[in-house]
Amino acid sequence: MASTFGAARVLVASNRGPVSYDVQADGTLSARRGGGGLVSGLSAIGSDADALWVCSALSDGDREAVRRGVGEAGVRMLDIPADVHADAYNGIANSVLWFVHHMLYQTPLEPVFDAEFRRQWASYETYNRAFAEALAQEAARGAAVVVQDYHLTLVPGMLRALRPDLRIGHFSHTPWAPPEYFRMLPDDVAEQVLRGMLGADRLGFLTRRWASAFEACAAEITGGLGDTRIGVHGLGADADFLRERSHEADVAERMTALKAEIGEGRRAIVRVDRTELSKNIVRGLRAYEHLLQTRPEWRERVVHVAFAYPSRQDLAVYRDYTAEVQRLADEINSTYGTPGWTPVVLHVKDDFARSLAAYRLADVALVNPIRDGMNLVAKEVPVVSDEGCALVLSREAGAYEELGDDAIVVNPYDVIGTADALHEALTMAPGERAERTKRLAAAATALPPAQWFLDQLAALGG
Ligand code: G6P
Repeated sequence: MASTFGAARVLVASNRGPVSYDVQADGTLSARRGGGGLVSGLSAIGSDADALWVCSALSDGDREAVRRGVGEAGVRMLDIPADVHADAYNGIANSVLWFVHHMLYQTPLEPVFDAEFRRQWASYETYNRAFAEALAQEAARGAAVVVQDYHLTLVPGMLRALRPDLRIGHFSHTPWAPPEYFRMLPDDVAEQVLRGMLGADRLGFLTRRWASAFEACAAEITGGLGDTRIGVHGLGADADFLRERSHEADVAERMTALKAEIGEGRRAIVRVDRTELSKNIVRGLRAYEHLLQTRPEWRERVVHVAFAYPSRQDLAVYRDYTAEVQRLADEINSTYGTPGWTPVVLHVKDDFARSLAAYRLADVALVNPIRDGMNLVAKEVPVVSDEGCALVLSREAGAYEELGDDAIVVNPYDVIGTADALHEALTMAPGERAERTKRLAAAATALPPAQWFLDQLAALGG
């Protein structure tokens, strides 16, 4: 029997892995490393030869890397057929589960659970099974496996059946829907998702609120949690990394360029997001427009710096949203702009150094999601800010639980309320702004990514 066990003692499973590959013109493969909380969290055990990260091949380059047997030690990419992956990732994970947990559906058109949905659901099962089988193959006896997010809700249950010896955790990086919204899913699917997750020994959430919503769903649909334990781990910003990275030369260069775009003596309201429906970028622009309209004293004196990086562009609804953000920014600029002043500076090309430059010089950070698991931008800005930055924060972001006291809190649907909050933020006295920023930074870094990950492992025991 022992020969059926693998060698890895700590395993992480997620759709997106820490590395991706591009095919170069000469046919060679080049590797790109990604960022994010999970990547820095794993650096805590990173060089450990017993650790393995199982993820999907997401691009042609990734698939080619799998075929050629190219790869990094400690990472195993699964070459799931592209059509199965597209159904599972675009169809179920991003168009159904993401929409449920962020409560993004718009009646009367959505949701519709039809034959197409059932076909995609079958792919989601296949995709989850591919992960469960790979993990079962790679894990040493009694190993700890931490499965990530809504893409892989069925994995804990499938893996438990294959390998009862393992310690299995699952962590949700999203909100969790309240039962009355979650129950929009067909009954058997809702139950399958919950039972899949309840195959884990322990489920982790970013805030108490999301954990309670899960508990409420389980109470209604599966009759409770069974033996599964629940934990809350509020992923924090990586202060050491951010402070160092934000003082590198490329960030300084971007600051110079950005200052020129903003113009001498003007205030900057900064937002940095994936172009994502839940981020509420359009209402943010409307709030800014309302500010300019109703408080003309701000005209020529403020610039809204909005970085909206493309995301999930395979989905029409995301492409439409991206177009709407662009359209509204143009409209505000043509209505209010003057020869020397561009009211909205919108950039859509992903550039981490430029994001850090914007964090450093922001007077106000606007983080107004409709719903968000945590929102790390709200946590990163105070850490990096040069002279203090007022934070306008949605009460529907997970970060609100930790940062609410020192932020200016908004209802994300209330555009006028958000405009008022922007005004309040712009007029906050510099001393108070600096004090609040200091407290926000302390709260934001309370649980650094490495500790966040180690805590989860420790809680799995063994
Ligand atoms: C955000 C969410 C995560 C999710 C990720 C997926 O970061 O907070 O919960 O896993 O997006 O993004 P992707 O680009 O891989 O679809």
